[in-house]
Amino acid sequence: MEGETLLRYKDIIPDFDALIASINRPRDITIRWNPHKIERNQLFAMLRETFNEVHEIGWYNHAFKLGQNERPGKNFLHALGYYYVQEESAMVAPIVLAPSKNSFVLDMCAAPGGKTTQLSALMENSGTIIANDKAIPRLKSLVSNVSRLGCINVVVTWNDARNLSIKDCFDYVLLDAPCTAEGNLFKKIKLMPKFMRDSLTNLQKALLHKAIEIAKPGSTIVYCTCTFAPEENEGVIANILAKNLAKIEPVRIKIPHEKGLEYFGKNEYGGELKKAVRIYPYHLNSGGAFIAKLRKRD
Ligand SMILES: C[S@@+](CC[C@H](N)C(=O)[O-])C[C@H]1O[C@@H](n2cnc3c(N)ncnc32)[C@H](O)[C@@H]1O
Repeated sequence: MEGETLLRYKDIIPDFDALIASINRPRDITIRWNPHKIERNQLFAMLRETFNEVHEIGWYNHAFKLGQNERPGKNFLHALGYYYVQEESAMVAPIVLAPSKNSFVLDMCAAPGGKTTQLSALMENSGTIIANDKAIPRLKSLVSNVSRLGCINVVVTWNDARNLSIKDCFDYVLLDAPCTAEGNLFKKIKLMPKFMRDSLTNLQKALLHKAIEIAKPGSTIVYCTCTFAPEENEGVIANILAKNLAKIEPVRIKIPHEKGLEYFGKNEYGGELKKAVRIYPYHLNSGGAFIAKLRKRD
């Protein structure tokens, strides 16, 4: 049987030709400065000595863009924990969550730790971040990254996040959900089979329900994925909004993006979903992302 392709999204992605062009060209290589280990200006100077091309990124002064042939993960500056190799689009969700210093934060699906270590940087190594994941091999990378970057405010835990039994506890919750990862497709347009998408959608709904339960009343929850599928994005948020446990707030970002969808095919998600954002690979020459910001009802 023929599988589905990216053509499934032809009617919802405003510049579909740009999308196809973007998945056929290499993505930009971006790194994020780790302020726990080095001053920004020192790192910038070292990067310019080490790599042929280094560009600052206008919207975020913690990020730098390198030439497409560079391998920053194999460099001694990386081993020293001076930076984390991270896609530009993946840097957006922690900024939207914006945890304050000294707060209590849960990163429910944290491995390998790109967003955990960014949250730690945003909190200036204060407060506590519980960085949880279910997959042991990925937890090893999480522990290694947290330690390499010197994130002393992070505690790593191993749980299926659906089984966490605490309530009304965290000031901020990030749910970077397991997804079909369609935003990372490179040189191919074939999607994961529908049964896998359906199974992930059920998991995402259960995880988001748990995220709301665990968060303190009035606190912020950010839900994000790296996929285009509306079922895994707007559909998951619409499901939680219908339960009246949280309200959605506008995501305000200064980078190119589209609004969340009000509907897809026969599925109606509602006007509130326009407050979420979709970042397509052609916006930043980076991966795709969906980000929604929720506030738990008091
Ligand atoms: C998109 S990745 C997270 C990426 C990570 N936040 C980062 O920025 O590096 C999704 C993660 O969810 C984890 N996961 C899947 N099901 C889970 C569950 N039921 N409970 C906790 N973690 C789960 C996977 O092991 C995977 O590491």
